[in-house]
Amino acid sequence: MDRLLITGGTPLSGTVRVSGAKNAALPLIAASLLTDEPIELEGVPELADVTSMLRLVQRIGTSATYVGGAPGRVRLHTPTLLAREAPYDLVRKMRASVLVLGPLLARGGEARVSLPGGCAIGPRPIDLHLKGLERMGAAIDLVDGYVAARAPHGLVGAEIEFPQPSVGATENLMMAACLARGTTRIVGAAREPEIVDLALLLRSMGARIEGAGTSVIAIEGMARLGGAAHSILPDRIEAGTYAMAAAITGGRLRIENAPLELLGAAREKLVEAGVELVETENGFEVGRANGVLEGVDVMTRPYPGFATDLQAQFMALMTVARGAAMITETIFENRFMHVPELMRMGAKITVHGGSAMVRGVERLKGAPVMATDLRASVSLVLAALAAEGRTEINRIYHLDRGYEHLEKKLGAVGARIERVP
Ligand code: UD1
Repeated sequence: MDRLLITGGTPLSGTVRVSGAKNAALPLIAASLLTDEPIELEGVPELADVTSMLRLVQRIGTSATYVGGAPGRVRLHTPTLLAREAPYDLVRKMRASVLVLGPLLARGGEARVSLPGGCAIGPRPIDLHLKGLERMGAAIDLVDGYVAARAPHGLVGAEIEFPQPSVGATENLMMAACLARGTTRIVGAAREPEIVDLALLLRSMGARIEGAGTSVIAIEGMARLGGAAHSILPDRIEAGTYAMAAAITGGRLRIENAPLELLGAAREKLVEAGVELVETENGFEVGRANGVLEGVDVMTRPYPGFATDLQAQFMALMTVARGAAMITETIFENRFMHVPELMRMGAKITVHGGSAMVRGVERLKGAPVMATDLRASVSLVLAALAAEGRTEINRIYHLDRGYEHLEKKLGAVGARIERVP
């Protein structure tokens, strides 16, 4: 298993180009199942999760080919659905595999998708996906750890209200509703930019969708959807992560392909913490405003609130800030696995339930640590970049799931980082 060796202490400097968003690419690939015509996506990032998703749709009958001409241009074509299943071995590795449920059911009338089961960041149920599909007329059974869904006479439009916003459930139902009879309204929908990106692709495929990006989305079903081409939204989590890498090392980076407003509430929180963010033509420049970082409290919230996917990185930043910071996680239980690892590097953190009190220290110290999930792992990378001496990060396959060419991008801006087998 690969490890990363990082020698900290070098302020980063230079330009980083942000890749296409993983969390946009995955639902967009699933959406290609809705039509028998080709879908062309541009900016598909080279990531383990994307490879898993491509493998899944290939099993279902999609030909997926990198066509060149532009970075990450992929052509997806599913003339017929040869299978209607997402097997356990794929769903277990990547929860977003459940996003094929809506498209398969809507186009093929049935689907069998493994239940994701527990994962490292809490139980993460899919009840909202299933209840929504039931409202649209699907019959759903749970058999041998699988969701068996049927709608032999097609889905019908419905009014669906979520008690709390779910990104995945909003996406699954939005896709299913495109091929349902009549109009579907999703009330309490998630508002993440990746949902807007999915709506953009679906609309270029001919779907009628209003309100994506707000908490009420209306979808008028169609008999069929056609082919389309779409360029994927930049990865706001990657952009935020590199911004924090600049700040934690006391360096300065130019982040390209990342509109500043995509950062949502993280933008204000970074500024409050003493980070300067200056808009540029196609991104922003980031560094410390006056040399010191200040402790700032943060609570994770659905978009446009502070992203849970940036919580671990922000905590790493706060470990070296002046004063204290209270970091509260409200989206997922058990998303503090980075805490003991950061503490191995000298961070002072106390956890009480869903809140972590971080007391800033002068300097972190390199240590052997272990990556536990995607965002936790990258928080250890940030800490290591700022720490004195060498940090060895084990189990870095988590990083390969979500950060395209991480060590190349960081190496190019001065980080001393090396991958060793
Ligand atoms: C997506 C993102 C993930 C991000 C998360 C929250 C993708 C591929 N992944 O995950 O990176 O951390 O949004 O921004 O886009 N819930 C239920 N029942 C459901 C569905 C969700 O109770 O049926 C709960 C979850 O346990 C969680 C909350 O709702 O507490 C939000 O989860 P959700 O927005 O669905 O996250 P994902 O779509 O899985």
